[in-house]
Amino acid sequence: MSIITVSTTPFKDQKPGTSGLRKAVKTFQQPHYLENFVQSIFDSLDIKGKTLVLGGDGRYYNRQAIQTILKMASANGVGRVLVGCEGILSTPAASCLIRANNAYGGIILSASHNPGGVDGDFGIKYNITNGGPAPEKITEGIFENTLTIEQYSILESADINLSSQGSFKLGDMDVEVMDSVKPYGELMESLFDFEAIRKLLTGGQFKMCMDSLHAVTGPYAKAIFEQKLGAKEGTVINGVPLEDFGGGHPDPNLVYAKGLVDILFGDNAPDFGAASDGDGDRNMILGKHFFVNPSDSLAVITANAHLVKGYKEGLAGVARSMPTSAAVDRVAETLGIDCYETPTGWKFFGNLLDAEKATICGEESFGTSSNHIREKDGLWAVLFWLNIIAVRGESVEDIVKSYWKTYGRNFYSRHDYEEVASEGANELVNQLRNQFDSLVGKTYGNYTVKYADDFSYTDPVDGSIADKQGVRIGFTDGSRIVFRLSGTGTKGATVRIYLESYEPDSSKQDLDTQEALKDLINIAEEIAQIKKYTHRDAPTVIT
Ligand code: G1P
Ligand code: ZN
Repeated sequence: MSIITVSTTPFKDQKPGTSGLRKAVKTFQQPHYLENFVQSIFDSLDIKGKTLVLGGDGRYYNRQAIQTILKMASANGVGRVLVGCEGILSTPAASCLIRANNAYGGIILSASHNPGGVDGDFGIKYNITNGGPAPEKITEGIFENTLTIEQYSILESADINLSSQGSFKLGDMDVEVMDSVKPYGELMESLFDFEAIRKLLTGGQFKMCMDSLHAVTGPYAKAIFEQKLGAKEGTVINGVPLEDFGGGHPDPNLVYAKGLVDILFGDNAPDFGAASDGDGDRNMILGKHFFVNPSDSLAVITANAHLVKGYKEGLAGVARSMPTSAAVDRVAETLGIDCYETPTGWKFFGNLLDAEKATICGEESFGTSSNHIREKDGLWAVLFWLNIIAVRGESVEDIVKSYWKTYGRNFYSRHDYEEVASEGANELVNQLRNQFDSLVGKTYGNYTVKYADDFSYTDPVDGSIADKQGVRIGFTDGSRIVFRLSGTGTKGATVRIYLESYEPDSSKQDLDTQEALKDLINIAEEIAQIKKYTHRDAPTVIT
C-alpha cells in the first residue's frame, strides 16, 4: 500500500448549495470530480489524526464513493473513520454518530429527495463537530479550494469490506464499520416513551403505515417500528433501500408519495401514515383521510412537547425558516418562549441549537427536528406524533383540529415550478425586487400590501448576515406571499411560491386550502407574472 499524488485541474462548478454539492451522477463520474471535492474538503480542515464519520443514503455511486473517500482520508492523515455498514447512514443517524463519538466531523453522501440511479443525482456534504451542516464560511473555503486544486492524495489499496461490523486498518488509519441503525435507535428510545407507543401499536385498534420509498429509512423503520415497538410486519412498506429508489422520486409529499396518500385516503385506511425521503431527514405525516401540513406539524409538536419524555422540562425556544407558516409563532407566544425566523436551509438552525436558544426547529419543506442532533430527522417526527397520539388517545385529525381551534388556522400552500429556464426564473425575482417601492400600499381586492422586501437574516449568535433570502410580500391582515429560487435543484431553476393566510374563526377552518388561498394565488400571478416568466400554466407540485 502506498500513497500516491494525482495531478488534477479544477472544475469550476463545485460550489456547495443549501445542502452540499449536488449534481447528476454522470457529473460525479467524471475522472477526478469526486476526488477534487474531497481533497478540497480535507485541505480546508485540520483533519490530521482526527475522527470522521462517513456514510450515505445508499443511492447509486454510494459504494464507489465511500471506498474512494476512505482511501483519500487515509492518504490525508485522518486518524479514524466510523463508517456505516454497507456504507449506509441516514443523515440524522450520521449526525447522531458524529455527536455520540465526539467526531471532528463527517462526510454524508446523499442528494436527499432527488431521484437516484445512473441517470439520477448524487451529492456530498461536510458536517462539523456539532453534527450539523458546515456553515457558509467553511463551504466557501471548500469552494475556493476547488477553484485552485492541482493535486490530490489517495492510498493505493484494495477496497475495504463494509458488509459486516468490525475494525480494520487502511494504511495508518483505523476504520470502524458500525451498526448503521443501533446508536440512532437508542437515541430515539431516550427521547420517546417506547412503552406507551408499543401499547398503541400492539393494542389491536390502531394501525399505521410507514412508507420508506425504497430509500434509506427502510432498515431504521423496520428495526424501530416492527422489531422494537411491535408493529405488525408489513407496517413498513417499500422498506428495502434500492440504488435507484425503485425508479421513484424519494420525496415525502402529496405528489411523490402518492402510493401512501392513496392508502390513507382509501377505504379501510389506517389511522396513521408517514413517509420519509432519500436520506431520512424529511417526513410527511398523514391521518386517516387527513394531511398534516408540515408547518402545522411543527406547531402541533411544539404545543404538545410537554407530553413527551425528552421535552417535558420545557423548550428553550423554537425556530422556523422564513417561508414556513407563522403557526408555531403563536404557540411560542402562548408558551412564553422565543421564536426565531431563519433563512431556508437547516444550517441556520445550528447556532440557535448550540446556544440553547431553540429546542425544536422546522421548515415547511417536511423537515422537523430538535436539539438531539443537528439535522432534521424524519423518523424522530414520526415517533413524536406517535407519542402524542399514545398520550392523548385522539386521532391525528382531532389533534390538529383542536390545535386550530385554540390557535387559529394558517392556511398554507407552496407552489413549485420545477426545472424552468434559469434566465426566466432570475428575471421573475429581479422584476419583483424592482417593484418593492411601488407595491407598498397597493390594494388587490380585500388585500392591501403592507411591506415588500428581501428577507435578510442576522445570526443572533455569531452576527453573520445572510441577505436576499427570499422576496416577501406581506399584507395588512397578516397574509403573505413569498417567492424564492430553490438552492437544491440540479436542472434549470425551481421557483417556489409560498402562500399563507390566517383564519382564527373555527367555523371557517374547514375550507379546502387552495380554495381558501385562491385570492392570494391570483394576486401572486398578477404581481409576479409567473406564467410569463416560467412559460408554465400551472405549478409542477402543489403542497
Ligand atoms: C429545499 C427546502 C429547504 C430544505 C432543503 C434541504 O431547499 O426548501 O427547506 O432545507 O431543500 O432539504 P430549496 O430547494 O428550497 O433551496
Ligand atoms: Zn433529505
